[in-house]
Amino acid sequence: MLLAAGSVAAASLLFACGNPRGESNDASTSESAPSAQASSSEGSNPAQGVKDGSWQGGQAKVLVAYYSRAGENYGTNGIERIEVGHTKVMSGYIAEALGADEYEIVPTQPYPDSYDACCDQAKEEQTQDARPAIADPLPDVSSYDVVFVGCPIWWGDEPMIIRTFVEGVDLSGKTIVPFTTHGGSGLGRVPSNLQAAIPNARFVDGHAVAGTSVDDARDEVTSWAKGLELA
Ligand SMILES: Cc1cc2nc3c(=O)[nH]c(=O)nc-3n(C[C@H](O)[C@H](O)[C@H](O)COP(=O)(O)O)c2cc1C
Repeated sequence: MLLAAGSVAAASLLFACGNPRGESNDASTSESAPSAQASSSEGSNPAQGVKDGSWQGGQAKVLVAYYSRAGENYGTNGIERIEVGHTKVMSGYIAEALGADEYEIVPTQPYPDSYDACCDQAKEEQTQDARPAIADPLPDVSSYDVVFVGCPIWWGDEPMIIRTFVEGVDLSGKTIVPFTTHGGSGLGRVPSNLQAAIPNARFVDGHAVAGTSVDDARDEVTSWAKGLELA
């Protein structure tokens, strides 16, 4: 049902969150699959929920902020239990490539483990224009020049908790880099939604990886991240 590559337009038409319903989404994506393994950053600062990295390029201080959901989702074998969310894996690649810090956006109220129940809740939150609460203190972003904002695509958009995050921290004047994992929708409407939410930021083109390909995308993501003009 979901696909890791191929025509994005076709993928957008085919994607359905829960089988009875469908949702067509905007699509702009970049997907390929060099070999890879998972990665993570070392160190942690529990008070802020920020994992510390060290920027090796010296040009900019970078934070990678993301939401990702483990649990029942589309994996390489169809619907299955995902132990580490796809976007979390992608965030790890970026943080490792740039020596950046990471901040995981953790909901106060976890989303349902069930894929269908999560689809229902996500749709309801979008309909209600909800701002789900974040469990940890928000990071102090004042010292960062660049903030990557990452999430899965939910119904063509970002999960509403991303809006809680971007409205809760002062990102004006920062360079913002969107990234997503998805089931065929690419970046979906995330870049335009973020630009509307953070009008005084500078945006750099984002990057999307099919969730089912994320384990093989380390080289691709590293190459993209290192090639960005961030300073
Ligand atoms: C509630 C929900 C809605 C989704 N809606 C879409 C969608 O509209 N388009 C799409 O391509 N993928 C959609 N997906 C698939 C996810 O974007 C994809 O599996 C992603 O890699 C999950 O990332 P995560 O493991 O970091 O949460 C949806 C998944 C869920 C759980």
